[in-house]
Amino acid sequence: MRERLDKVLAHLGLGSRKEIARLARAGMIAIDGQIIRDVSHKFDPSASRIEIDGEHVIYQTYFHLLLNKPAGYVTSTKDHDGAPITELIPEEHYRDDWMPVGRLDKDTEGLLLLTTDGMLAHRLTHPRWKVAKRYYAELEEPASQEDINAFAAGMELQDEKLQPAELEICQDQRKVELVIREGRYHQVKRMFEARGNRVLYLKRVKFGPLELGSLGTGEAKELSAAEALALYAEVGLKADIPDELN
Ligand code: URA
Repeated sequence: MRERLDKVLAHLGLGSRKEIARLARAGMIAIDGQIIRDVSHKFDPSASRIEIDGEHVIYQTYFHLLLNKPAGYVTSTKDHDGAPITELIPEEHYRDDWMPVGRLDKDTEGLLLLTTDGMLAHRLTHPRWKVAKRYYAELEEPASQEDINAFAAGMELQDEKLQPAELEICQDQRKVELVIREGRYHQVKRMFEARGNRVLYLKRVKFGPLELGSLGTGEAKELSAAEALALYAEVGLKADIPDELN
C-alpha cells in the first residue's frame, strides 16, 4: 500500500513529522536510491529501499518489545498507583502505540510483552488459544502433592472453572514453578490462596515460546525474527517479518 513518506518514517520511530521534514529538506532521505525532499511523496514502504543519511532502514509493519518488569511498576497507564511500565522503555524504542499483552501485578516481576499488533495481542490473551505462561513463585508454606493434583484437575475459583495447570515443586518446597493457560485477575495468587497458602514473590519467566534469557530486570529488547515467528505461530497467525530480518 502506498503511504506518505512522513507517515512511514514516523511509524518507524525516526522522528516527529517536523524532524522528518527537516531531514527531507536536507536531502538525507532516499527511496530506492532517489533523494526525496517532499514529505508528501507516496510509495509502498514494504516494497522499497529506505535510506536515511545513506543508512538502510528496514521497514516493519509491527513492533514487539520484551520487558523484564521489576516490582513497583504498573502495567496499565490508567492505574496511577505506581510508575507506569512505559517508563522502562528505552528512548530508541519509544512510541505511543505500544500495547501490553496481558498484565502483571505491581509487585510481580518478569516477562511482559508489548506489541503494536492488536490482533496478536488479542489472540495471545484470549483463553481460546491457551497460551502457556510459566511463573516462578515463592510461597509462605511448602507446596504439596495435593496442590499438584488440585491444579492439574482444573480448580474452581469462586465461580470460575480454571484450565488444568502444572505445578512443579523445587527441593525447597516453598519454591515452585506453575504453568497456567489463561490470565485471570491475580490468578496465581488466588490459586494458592484457595489452597490455604500465600504467594510472597512472583515472577513470570516464560510466555508462550518467549523466555527472558539474559534480559536483566528493568531491561527491554525487541524480539528477534525467530522469536516473533514463533509467537505468531503460537496463535495461528502468519508473521509479517521483512526478509532482511530473517
Ligand atoms: N497471577 C497473579 O496473581 N499476578 C500476576 O501478576 C500474574 C499472574
